[in-house]
Amino acid sequence: MSQDQKTWNFSAGPAVIPRPVLERAQRELLNWNNCGCSVMELSHRSPEFESILSKAEQDFRQILSIPKNYKVLWMQGGATAQFSAVVYNLLGSFDKTADYIVTGAWTSKAVEEAQRLGARVNVVANTKSTGHNGALPPISSWEFTPPSESAYIYYTSNETVHGVEFPDDEAFFSSLPAGVPVICDMSSNIMSRKIDITKYACIFAGAQKNIGPAGVTVLIIREDLIGTRVNPSLTIPIMLDYKICAENNSMYNTPPTYSIYIAGLVFEWLQSIGGLAAIEALNLRKSSKLYDTVAKSDGFYRCPVKEGYRSRMNIPFRIYGKDGQASKELEGKFLKEAEGRGMVQLKGHRSVGGIRASLYNAMPEEGVDALTGFMEEFRRANV
Ligand SMILES: Cc1ncc(COP(=O)(O)O)c(C=O)c1O
Repeated sequence: MSQDQKTWNFSAGPAVIPRPVLERAQRELLNWNNCGCSVMELSHRSPEFESILSKAEQDFRQILSIPKNYKVLWMQGGATAQFSAVVYNLLGSFDKTADYIVTGAWTSKAVEEAQRLGARVNVVANTKSTGHNGALPPISSWEFTPPSESAYIYYTSNETVHGVEFPDDEAFFSSLPAGVPVICDMSSNIMSRKIDITKYACIFAGAQKNIGPAGVTVLIIREDLIGTRVNPSLTIPIMLDYKICAENNSMYNTPPTYSIYIAGLVFEWLQSIGGLAAIEALNLRKSSKLYDTVAKSDGFYRCPVKEGYRSRMNIPFRIYGKDGQASKELEGKFLKEAEGRGMVQLKGHRSVGGIRASLYNAMPEEGVDALTGFMEEFRRANV
């Protein structure tokens, strides 16, 4: 690809970062804020880095309207480390049951890890038999653990691999047993729309989709849950301990300073374009354009996920041949031609196949227009 060609990066993560953020990071690379050093070279104990961390937290809180009784923690080990951390920090004891709602690959992994650590898991609903196509049974049929025996309810708001966005609306929250902490893996749709933080006990998100580069995981946790629900039968590895992380202002050890710095720039960028209200409208417009292109293709493109559960962030689709079957040959041709036009990282996850277009916050509408234009052209040439 020539250096002048515009590239549209549809990766599911690590993913596209807003162009103005990369340009600013480039300008500031060698000499941040006239301190004579790169952020990469600053001690995490320096006043300069402390100012970066506190500004990032302040902006993150402002964007998501995080109430004062919630702590923001910056952790490591990716979102995967949180699959273990929630069990260590929030299960309470092995007498309790943890409820998981499984809508795709990532909650399945979280269940496996909870079970591996010895937790009693109740899978409240599971879409595995449908290939995780979003077809959840009605909430009224879900069998939650009674509140007195329940440690928490866990779900993933956006299943990145399968392209399923969880229907976490008023109807969902009002159906939950009262008083049970709700934990959400929001790795792939955090900051993509407005949410009511008070509905949650704990939200976590790996950074490498809507926040910034890989290497840091952000946690939003209700203060009263920190250190009060640990499982006395387990010794928490020090790096997974929420209390130690909170007591040390997320700096028990060296945090991923550069990732946090870039996350801070992403927050400033999001504020500058109008925050969650603006990005939510944009995300809806972008994803609707792509789903409309699929819908109007007379079955040439097909999205496996049921309407009502389709993700605005990750859109998987298959390409069908004249024989009415998904065609790997056409999909290969599509990917090759798309790449030739600067549209990269569109290959579907290996477990799902086909194509997956990830349209995170930083993907400009122009990129979606380029993709839908190409899809239409490709369909006409290959139908
Ligand atoms: C929803 C979700 N949860 C968890 C993970 C795992 O994240 P990590 O690779 O940072 O551990 C991912 C990664 O893509 C994800 O999309």
